[in-house]
Amino acid sequence: MYSTAAALSSAETRHKENSFRQFYEGYAQIVCNVVDRDPARRYPEPWFIDLTAGSGVNRLPDGEVIAGSPLIWQQTHLALGHRASGCFIERDERDAEELQLRLIDGELTADGDRPLTCWTWVLAGDHETYAPRVAAAICRDMQRVHKTPYGLVYADPNHGRVPLAGFAPFVGDPLFARMDYLVYIAANGAYKRARGHAQHNGDGRLAHRAEVYLQDDLDALHKQYTWVRRPRTNQQWTFVLLSNYSGLHGPDARNWISSQRPEFGAVMRQLNLHKNEQAAELYASNLWDVEADDDA
Ligand SMILES: C[S@@+](CC[C@H](N)C(=O)[O-])C[C@H]1O[C@@H](n2cnc3c(N)ncnc32)[C@H](O)[C@@H]1O
Repeated sequence: MYSTAAALSSAETRHKENSFRQFYEGYAQIVCNVVDRDPARRYPEPWFIDLTAGSGVNRLPDGEVIAGSPLIWQQTHLALGHRASGCFIERDERDAEELQLRLIDGELTADGDRPLTCWTWVLAGDHETYAPRVAAAICRDMQRVHKTPYGLVYADPNHGRVPLAGFAPFVGDPLFARMDYLVYIAANGAYKRARGHAQHNGDGRLAHRAEVYLQDDLDALHKQYTWVRRPRTNQQWTFVLLSNYSGLHGPDARNWISSQRPEFGAVMRQLNLHKNEQAAELYASNLWDVEADDDA
């Protein structure tokens, strides 16, 4: 059976966390500005919901320990001097416990005379179970204070597909229209390879092959705009950002290819189609051209 597991090298993990930090610093500035400058005070502190939070740090194969997404989130808001609410879901209980301690330590930082708080919730369990409860709790709270939640839902599942079950409670609900989604995913894993390789059961029969494309899962998230970073390594690791707001970009905007830019189609094609499919598509389009010429 083909395995979709794809361990990240030290270099790739460093690159992931650097890219996330760069992105999140730019993103938090945009979101905090919107929250602060909104005269109608429609938004609470920005939310960050991490569906696959980890322990807060990454121990790299080369021995270095670097901050992961929860700590990067907290460091960013402490540096900005802006309050924020973070919810961290992690299925590994020991990692969740470690994360809780690391986030509490970080909360004690003071900003001059003004103590700054990032409200944090660490939930030890699967996002399939907890994301619906988190969405329901936010919904109740926001309706009580007549505000609209604003911020990011992030998934970094390590391998496999976009974890749709974790996003599902936020998708399609108008209350969550201002929540953006970010995914770190390997396109050349559960999508292209699972589709492209013949898989045989022990009894010689051809096993079920996944028919799904990365684009199918992104479409299921129902946002108007998509940004993608150019894929890296043979696994084609990439970040995909989805939002209903076309102006979303960070300081490294040039690295995020927007669905409004002409090269977006080529990058998504590379992420969606394995080589055989690209060749078949080219063959079909050539055939189409020949038939059109014949008709002329
Ligand atoms: C790649 S790590 C996340 C790293 C983190 N984003 C960071 O930057 O440090 C993926 C984590 O997701 C957790 N995980 C996997 N499936 C999950 C699920 N269904 N619900 C909650 N956590 C899950 C794993 O235990 C693992 O700690």
